[in-house]
Amino acid sequence: MVYGGLSALGRELKKEEWWDAKYVILVDENTFQHCLSRLIGYVEVLQEAEFIEVPVGEECKSLEVATQVWQTLLESEADRNTVIVNLGGGCVCDLGGYVAAGYKRGIRHINVPTTLLAMTDAAIGGKTAINLDGVKNVVGHFYSPRLTVIEPMFLDTLPREELLNGKMEMVKTAAVADSLLFERLIVDEAVARQQIIEVARIKNRIVKADPYDRSIRHILNFGHTFGHAVEMYSQLPHGLAVGVGMLAAMYLSVKKLGLSEDVYHTYSRWFKRHADVPRYTLKDIEHMLPLMRQDKKNTAGELRCVLLQESGAAVIDVAVSDHEVRDAFLHLNAV
Ligand SMILES: NC(=O)c1ccc[n+]([C@@H]2O[C@H](COP(=O)([O-])OP(=O)(O)OC[C@H]3O[C@@H](n4cnc5c(N)ncnc54)[C@H](O)[C@@H]3O)[C@@H](O)[C@H]2O)c1
Ligand SMILES: [Zn+2]
Repeated sequence: MVYGGLSALGRELKKEEWWDAKYVILVDENTFQHCLSRLIGYVEVLQEAEFIEVPVGEECKSLEVATQVWQTLLESEADRNTVIVNLGGGCVCDLGGYVAAGYKRGIRHINVPTTLLAMTDAAIGGKTAINLDGVKNVVGHFYSPRLTVIEPMFLDTLPREELLNGKMEMVKTAAVADSLLFERLIVDEAVARQQIIEVARIKNRIVKADPYDRSIRHILNFGHTFGHAVEMYSQLPHGLAVGVGMLAAMYLSVKKLGLSEDVYHTYSRWFKRHADVPRYTLKDIEHMLPLMRQDKKNTAGELRCVLLQESGAAVIDVAVSDHEVRDAFLHLNAV
């Protein structure tokens, strides 16, 4: 991890282990426009780099686009010294990591995340993936970047809704791991550089403890079992849907694990200042229950959620009944 921004990356890439490197920068249309000149302005060794532009958003996370990038690498005679620099949000980082893992059985890659969500979540932890037949992240590898560089300057051009998506996931990470940071994130409206770094550090620490996502890393799925159903059913952006999912999961945490109501109310007040709470009828919830059961964390059709015992302390694999799901979703109407 490089927390010192682009200047620190510039210094890092002058080290001996990078002398043989030939860089290829992966961008999408937006990061080409807003981020590329900043990157190469600060990092001298990247000035000669080739760049490859891929489609914006989920569209780039496909086997077709991965194949196109591999073909471009082959045409330009990229060898095992090639280093892919992913300059973008979670989509570019996921695709670029996947491409790096496969090319010549694995070449180095560096993540330079440009969205808040990627800086604090997607670009950290070595999960790479593409989508297939409409199923998200179904083909991929655990393949870690050599470096992830946190440079908050890129957020200057990020649309407000993307900032909010990132902030929701930041609040999630703090909620399961650091109660003081959780409180600060909720009090402060603007996202401070220091907070980004703190959340990135927490994520880094959790994935190091469980690199293959078999145990403790599951706490990062807080809000996601409900959130994925909200995302699919209400067609909300992922971060926002997770924010709604956290409302439901916190409500159940109060009921089942004795989470303090203060935590729940503080969070719900904060959420309402930033977004509307969706309202669901029993009929809606019957459509959402099967979506929740598809969640990969469930065993034998029984719903399992991450809940909070207290702010900063999560419990994984808590069995949740259909009745409790209905109760939690209906309770959103009272938030
Ligand atoms: N690998 C992981 O561990 C992990 C974790 C969480 C999410 N993800 C993945 O991340 C993806 C979502 O990432 P995201 O939210 O960053 O979305 P994204 O990559 O689609 O970026 C969001 C939008 O912002 C634009 N953009 C990026 N940086 C910009 C900048 N600095 N200025 C202006 N516009 C900019 C992008 O072009 C895009 O339109 C999903 O595919 C998700 O599956 C992966
Ligand atoms: Zn998420």
